[in-house]
Amino acid sequence: MKKIENILCIGAGYVGGPTMAMIARKCPDRRVTVVDVNAKRIAAWQSDDLPIYEPGLKEVVRETLNRNLFFSTDVDKAIEEADVIFVAVNTPTKTFGQGAGCAADLQYWEKTARQIKRCSKRDKIVVEKSTLPVRTAAAMQRVLSAESDGVHFEVLSNPEFLAEGTAIADLECPDRVLIGSDETETGLAAREAVVDIYASWIPRDRILTTNVWSSELSKIAANAFLAQRISSINALTELCEKTGADVTEVARAIGADSRIGPKFLKAGVGFGGSCFKKDILNLVYMCESQGLHQAADYWRSVVTMNTHQQNRFVNTMLTAMFNTVAGKRIALLGFAFKADTSDTRETPALTVARLLAEEHADIVISDPYALENAKNDLASVGDRVAYESDPHKAVEGADAVAVMTDWKLYGDIDWQRVYASMRKPAFIFDGRNFLDHAKLFKLGFHVYAIGIEPKSHF
Ligand code: NAD
Ligand code: UGA
Repeated sequence: MKKIENILCIGAGYVGGPTMAMIARKCPDRRVTVVDVNAKRIAAWQSDDLPIYEPGLKEVVRETLNRNLFFSTDVDKAIEEADVIFVAVNTPTKTFGQGAGCAADLQYWEKTARQIKRCSKRDKIVVEKSTLPVRTAAAMQRVLSAESDGVHFEVLSNPEFLAEGTAIADLECPDRVLIGSDETETGLAAREAVVDIYASWIPRDRILTTNVWSSELSKIAANAFLAQRISSINALTELCEKTGADVTEVARAIGADSRIGPKFLKAGVGFGGSCFKKDILNLVYMCESQGLHQAADYWRSVVTMNTHQQNRFVNTMLTAMFNTVAGKRIALLGFAFKADTSDTRETPALTVARLLAEEHADIVISDPYALENAKNDLASVGDRVAYESDPHKAVEGADAVAVMTDWKLYGDIDWQRVYASMRKPAFIFDGRNFLDHAKLFKLGFHVYAIGIEPKSHF
């Protein structure tokens, strides 16, 4: 197969933007175009004010933009010119009709497939970059080969494993790249052409190849396993709080077993982000559709535990603060679903803010990068919520502080100054278990963490 020169990505979001910027950096001899229907997003990619915050991303875009990385809204033209098309459109949970609240909404993906079909006058490789239900490639192949006009499409799966906040490092040095293809002559040739792109900077032994279905399912399975570890450690936190065991010590002890390993054992207010919940629910739906009810129930429980952990956090706050937070000022430090991102999709902070608003608390939200998203997410909650980028101003006169995101700056904050500016008794709820609780207690705070006995002066 001839070398791929023109690479296109449809979807300029959290995945499409960073992955294509990295390919452009590592393959200066190939032309990379990223298109999107969202003109505002495309304009932002071409400006100094990128549409997403991601450490190191600006540098990569600055180096490649208009050299061999191009952003455009002209999807038709870009399809016509491309040799390979990565599809990185959103695949959210369906909110209507059959499978609502569980199945993946494939409307954006299908629209894209039809557009590729319409605009292609020569053979193309189409690569699923979005996370999709297993066997989606078969449906894509059907859309693409309907009314055959001699153009051949080879559909591959190349799911993305980057995590937000560390996307650039993950792309630069991934644990593995996964490429699934048909195991036919043309499928294997297309697979080799895509392997060749990644082999520009990734050792070949980290580029795994499989059949298409294994690749599609592996992506969802990887997210399900990661989320399951978080729910498993979180499922121990209540027992720890009631018995005097400390979940951070338990995590260290079990994580030292090389068969278990230390990562993704950090207890907290629950996982957020656009994908864990969506992908597990998608897995649940696939199992249900095949009549595999026990398997579906097993995976559903990972999400149930996560919802419980978020609700429980607010219950702890209420109980600690004498069963009422009405009219009390509560500062939420952090709104992003994790540190080093502006992304607030499925953030536990949103659930916590909504529940506190229902209790008539006066909420102040602070975050270094996610305040704009927070304002959009909480638009319906109204004037119970205020926004303040300076954490010291946010906590002034507050009855309680709840740390929702493990931004490093909250670890470094002058907590003595915070304590002095708050109303007493001053409560702190560490939803990420990353503050120095002994020090805070000594300063006078009543300290509540996750999976650790509360430290109260009462
Ligand atoms: P996103 O919402 O940030 O970006 C998707 C983009 O696709 C949007 O800008 C949207 O306007 C565009 N789009 C939708 N339909 C289009 C069309 N017909 N033509 C052109 N553009 C179109 O989503 P994301 O977070 O980048 O996720 C994309 C996919 O990647 C999802 O399937 C997700 O599960 C998966 N994924 C995401 C991450 C992550 O960290 N966010 C990581 C791995 C995998
Ligand atoms: C996750 C996966 O880690 C990526 O491999 C995957 O590509 C991506 O989903 C996706 O498919 O979208 P991401 O959601 O960006 O990445 O971030 P994570 O680092 O996985 O964190 C997810 C959530 O779990 C965050 O809210 C984080 O605070 C929480 N978390 C993580 C914990 O509560 N405890 C932990 O030990 C680890």
